[in-house]
Amino acid sequence: MKIGILGAMEEEITPLLDTLGEFEEIKYANNSYYLAHYKNHELILAYSKIGKVNSTLSTAVMIEKFKAEKLLFTGVAGAFNPKLNIGDLLCATSLVQYDLDITAFGHPLGFVPGNEIFIKTDEKLNQIAQKVANELGKKLEFGIIATGDEFICDESKKAKIREIFQADACEMEGASVALTCATLNVPCFILRAISDKAGEKAEFDFDEFVVNSAKISAEFVLKMCDYL
Ligand code: ADE
Repeated sequence: MKIGILGAMEEEITPLLDTLGEFEEIKYANNSYYLAHYKNHELILAYSKIGKVNSTLSTAVMIEKFKAEKLLFTGVAGAFNPKLNIGDLLCATSLVQYDLDITAFGHPLGFVPGNEIFIKTDEKLNQIAQKVANELGKKLEFGIIATGDEFICDESKKAKIREIFQADACEMEGASVALTCATLNVPCFILRAISDKAGEKAEFDFDEFVVNSAKISAEFVLKMCDYL
């Protein structure tokens, strides 16, 4: 099977390229896509660069140019839910663009005509993730992720987004990846390991924990491929 594995930042994909060892780099649309073999799968790996636009483009390229049949996203997130700690794994069951705002016209935050507010991920992939977690003896949480083009490091912004969407964590790519996959009919899985708690000084925790948390998520996603 052709599986796309996408991250946003170099730190999120390097652990996989290091593990795979051999890969071919293809430069396309101002980015690099890495083709590798894993078990009986063909993998397409890339880091999109940060944000909703970059991640939308890379997702579309993985599907339309490289023919990815499933899309697994790996990366880090800022926790909103107090039960999530640094290094914990969160699988998104649904995602929302919290900064998509035409409330001036009476629409709810996160909504534009033609789309749903919440974008669902693939249930079968999420069930496989639970199975992988059980077999590895790892804790895996499921929840809602809020996506927007801002690094959240502010208690009041965090509280507001959590209250409106009941979001468990925030990041900057998941909803756009999930929406692109849903639109192009490709099953989507979004995994994040917590790097910070999105409050005051979250940028310092992020810098300290991004590499380790990114690795935790990447290792889990590769293990998922064993079950596909
Ligand atoms: N990714 C990891 N931590 C984040 C945060 N606090 N805000 C947005 N994206 C993140």
